[in-house]
Amino acid sequence: MCGIVGFVGAEDAAPILLDSLERLEYRGYDSAGIAVVDRESGLQVEKCKGYVSELRGRLTQRAPMTGCAGIGHTRWATHGEPNDINSHPHVSQNGRVAIVHNGIIENYIHIKEFLLSRGVTFASDTDTEVVAQLLEYFFNDCDDIMDAVYQVLDRLEGAYALGILCADTPDRIIAARKDAPLLIGYGEGCSFIASDVTAVIAHTRTVSYMEDGEVAVLTRGRVEVFDEYRRPVEKTSHYVDWDVSAAEKGGYAHFMLKEIHEQPQAVRSTISPYLRDGKIRFDGLSVSTDYINGLRDIHIIACGSSYHVGMIGKYNLERLVRVPVSVSLASEFQYSDPLVGRDSLIIAISQSGETLDTITAVKTVRSRGAHVLSIVNVVGSSLARISDDVLYTRAGPEIAVATTKAYSTQLVMLNMLGLYFAEQRGSVAPDEYAAIVTALEALPAQMQQVLDDTDEYQYLASQYFNRERVFYIGRNLDYALGLEGSLKLKEISYIHSESYAAGELKHGTISLIEDGTLVIALATYAPLFEKALANVREVQARGADVLALTTADRAGALLENVHNLMTVPDTHLILQPNLGVIPLQLLAYYIALQRGCDIDKPRNLAKSVTVE
Ligand code: AGP
Ligand code: GLU
Repeated sequence: MCGIVGFVGAEDAAPILLDSLERLEYRGYDSAGIAVVDRESGLQVEKCKGYVSELRGRLTQRAPMTGCAGIGHTRWATHGEPNDINSHPHVSQNGRVAIVHNGIIENYIHIKEFLLSRGVTFASDTDTEVVAQLLEYFFNDCDDIMDAVYQVLDRLEGAYALGILCADTPDRIIAARKDAPLLIGYGEGCSFIASDVTAVIAHTRTVSYMEDGEVAVLTRGRVEVFDEYRRPVEKTSHYVDWDVSAAEKGGYAHFMLKEIHEQPQAVRSTISPYLRDGKIRFDGLSVSTDYINGLRDIHIIACGSSYHVGMIGKYNLERLVRVPVSVSLASEFQYSDPLVGRDSLIIAISQSGETLDTITAVKTVRSRGAHVLSIVNVVGSSLARISDDVLYTRAGPEIAVATTKAYSTQLVMLNMLGLYFAEQRGSVAPDEYAAIVTALEALPAQMQQVLDDTDEYQYLASQYFNRERVFYIGRNLDYALGLEGSLKLKEISYIHSESYAAGELKHGTISLIEDGTLVIALATYAPLFEKALANVREVQARGADVLALTTADRAGALLENVHNLMTVPDTHLILQPNLGVIPLQLLAYYIALQRGCDIDKPRNLAKSVTVE
């Protein structure tokens, strides 16, 4: 979702801001803009609907922007359509301040009415503009920008990460945060603000994360941070060890394809810190064996693909740990008055760690005494910081909006956690434990095997890319896997697809099957293979073209019933989705490619969803 960048240093800010905005493009956005300030020219702003490349074009048609301090923004509209005027930065009516904002100002109508009654005129339809206008309104009275900033923050309700530029103080940028991500980057004689580290790693690897209520003042060589009462705060800085090239395409046509191919390595890196001498160990976790033994229930909360990981987790954790496991969409869970207490374990799953629905749900359960363990990919992200325990997946930066490698690493992490709990509780037989560990060790190489030959998926895509709707069917883990396969396809190819529990078909959905309907039948879950076969026959008898996915050793039994067949190697059944998901990702990718879609940045979607 929206990206914020800010720079103050010894050189012109504009080129640096544009480069940093490009690195945030993956978050998803609809417009872009920058503002730069210097003493002679004052505030200079350029912004437009569309990509950063369009903004670059606009900049070539005007006098160069001069100034060593600036802010930039990629907007994902929440209030007011995406157009040039609603793009950020927003400038106050007398041009004293410019603002970039990520989030939603919930009481903006109230503030707007107040300012209108005082004769302030507005240019845009956004909620954000009230921040710029209110800041100038207070600034006109007190002439101290920090006083004015604190007066404004006192009156804002909602979520915000703010970058502020002031014509009267061209040597600095000011930043503030509440419920939206914002970090500070410490460079050589320069300082940055950014929504995430990918924007700054080309310049610095030393960052600190702003907390709710904090305000930062950044000048060329100095950063000061204050809390909500304006008391100075000592920030802890973190070193970011992500490789810059990991945030670049490295020869692949799209980030998504690159990330699909990075999965074996990402899964290997996620497994290895926890798997030693045939044992899964989570030494750093604060949960004790007594706590694990006394667990009453487990609730998994997440959104989108992370929720689909949770669906697989429900089946696998109940099987291994033998306690009831629920899995909920975070956006529903937070408003459901959940029945959780001290003996409930909450597992929150998020790639970005900035998904507001998940963060809000976690805050709700924490207030009820539940223990929160998060599985997160981004170190130091908001979710990580509010959780009791964090397990980091090691997928590295994921740029494509459609997740692939984060999904795979979340899956193995959840399975390892289940196995660890099961061992502590004595609910898994030693030979089953050993079999899963052996399968985990072999998994990255098996994933690589699936990725070694992608021609087949290109061929299948050429057969099916012009279908208008697709059904995925499966049972148990295959049902959960189908949800992810279907989401991948609709996200990037815009084909309408649905995923059904195969046993549910005859309760309604089968009425939609007609001659030539494409049904992707997932039959990798060995215990229910015969049932899956029966469902394949059901839809085939009604004219469906069936594309099936199964394990190599069962291919023979399916061949005569299907239009086309994809196979993956066999592994322990709880890990099978880790292999099964790859053909589904590749199929979605190549179909979207044939349809000429914008694969890495699908329409209307954002990588990191920081609004409810
Ligand atoms: C996945 O392809 C999606 N773009 C989306 O569903 C995503 O999984 C969801 O928004 C949750 O994101 P998170 O893992 O960063 O919390
Ligand atoms: N609510 C603001 C707007 O619609 C900011 C959206 C964003 O976070 O990009 O302009």
